[in-house]
Amino acid sequence: MAKSRTAPVTAPEICARKHGETPLVMVTAYDAPSARVVDAAGVDMILVGDSVAMVVLGYGDTLQVTTDDMAHHIGAVARTTPNALVVGDLPWLSYHVSRDETVRNAASLVRAGAGAVKLEGGRKRLDAVHAILDAEIPVMGHIGLTPQSIHALGGFKVQGKQLDAARTLVEDAVALAEAGCFAIVLECVPDGVARMITDSVEAPTIGIGAGRHCDGQVLVYHDLLGFSAPGHRMPKFVRQYAAQEFDATESVSRFVDDVRGGRFPSSEETYHMADQMLDELGLYGAAST
Ligand code: KIV
Repeated sequence: MAKSRTAPVTAPEICARKHGETPLVMVTAYDAPSARVVDAAGVDMILVGDSVAMVVLGYGDTLQVTTDDMAHHIGAVARTTPNALVVGDLPWLSYHVSRDETVRNAASLVRAGAGAVKLEGGRKRLDAVHAILDAEIPVMGHIGLTPQSIHALGGFKVQGKQLDAARTLVEDAVALAEAGCFAIVLECVPDGVARMITDSVEAPTIGIGAGRHCDGQVLVYHDLLGFSAPGHRMPKFVRQYAAQEFDATESVSRFVDDVRGGRFPSSEETYHMADQMLDELGLYGAAST
């Protein structure tokens, strides 16, 4: 559980674990407390994902966050000096317009503290991948269900269920790995497709809703800890290890009751003046009540 390394994990080290025995672990974090928690738990990578838009900022999709928003959250995570590699998500439209803008946006995330960036899409995004790699910034790919394409995909749906779509995903993954991506996220694809991809590329695959045949797994912090708005249906690939939204509400409710019932603060939770000063101020009798 405790931190033992002094230098953070690097992208080349992650890539070199393709044929390792232990699966890679990545969890998202968006601020200092969540970064401390996941790093102390021993993850290999912390993803400052654009899922921050949905799980922290209350938007209905990931399209609302900007490069500045991402840099703000990456900075908070990086200032905890984690052992894990900090991967910063390039938000929608930050790598779609031009090569120059792409490189500048990736550089902003690195200056904020990321050791690598992630972008969504397959062969269509190879120019962006090459441009960022030319600036010496490691790139993680992301294919399958790519939430930044939510409108084009027609919703949050499992991808690659048809033969042609499955072949397209394999070809996309091969192209990203050959371009130099150090790892590739596979989101919401059937396990058979994930297995074909994992066997076809030299970069480690990191699955989310992609079954067990990946080189690693990633989950969103708030999903795995059980923070979810009432009525929100968790996807079936999420395993919840806690019910923190419930626990936090219980704790705050107890505080509310204590304040309203006159049980907070107690004398031990209060700074007191010396009796003599109280006396001089004419407040005698107030000290210990
Ligand atoms: O933003 C995010 O949290 C992600 C993960 C779902 C991989 O991209």
